[in-house]
Amino acid sequence: MNNFWDLRYKEEGYAYGTKPNEFFKNSIDTLNQKGTLLLAAEGEGRNALYAAKISWDVYAFDISIEAKKKADLLAKSENVFINYQVGDFFKLQLINHKFDVIALIFAHFTTDILSDYHQKLAELLKPNGIIILEGFSKTHFEFQKENPNAGGPKNLDMLFSIESIKKDFLNVEIIKLEEVEIELDEGKYHQGKAKVIRFIGRKI
Ligand SMILES: C[S@@+](CC[C@H](N)C(=O)[O-])C[C@H]1O[C@@H](n2cnc3c(N)ncnc32)[C@H](O)[C@@H]1O
Repeated sequence: MNNFWDLRYKEEGYAYGTKPNEFFKNSIDTLNQKGTLLLAAEGEGRNALYAAKISWDVYAFDISIEAKKKADLLAKSENVFINYQVGDFFKLQLINHKFDVIALIFAHFTTDILSDYHQKLAELLKPNGIIILEGFSKTHFEFQKENPNAGGPKNLDMLFSIESIKKDFLNVEIIKLEEVEIELDEGKYHQGKAKVIRFIGRKI
């Protein structure tokens, strides 16, 4: 059992809401295609649900079994299917698949696995496949102290920078890579001013 995340997801309601993340939604909506999508560290399934409803073939993974239970409930309520796997990414069946799009939305892995996960995820993209990433920037660290409701890891090394993204995603052509200040309004745990890295890339 993963205590921190399982306990969070055992709480009533959806920690980050049930609407898709805005950057994810806008990015996927502008892609002129449908196909296979993998959502990394997908939590309670808000992004997976949106994509499944607009006819993507959706795969997701997370370490929290409680997250999957919530995602399954969401999918059932809307009569869609999400292939959601729980556990250590390198041991999951989905690493034998290739995807048209891979999205990481506030997917902050611990430093021992962070770069390996990013590199392996990029390997799972089909040629010309698209990666969509939004996550807290290292400069968010100070915002978080002033406004803990904005959320984000307490470990600076788990946060992103333009340089760390470039370093991890070497064989990915950058379509967009920026650091922006945004106002988060996602459930109970992502509220208020935040600094994020937004990245869209294409597998070379
Ligand atoms: C801030 S939540 C974001 C959830 C979801 N992507 C969203 O935007 O609603 C971070 C998620 O990362 C997951 N996570 C943390 N470490 C992980 C790991 N090693 N493998 C898979 N998921 C992980 C947690 O269980 C949690 O669901």
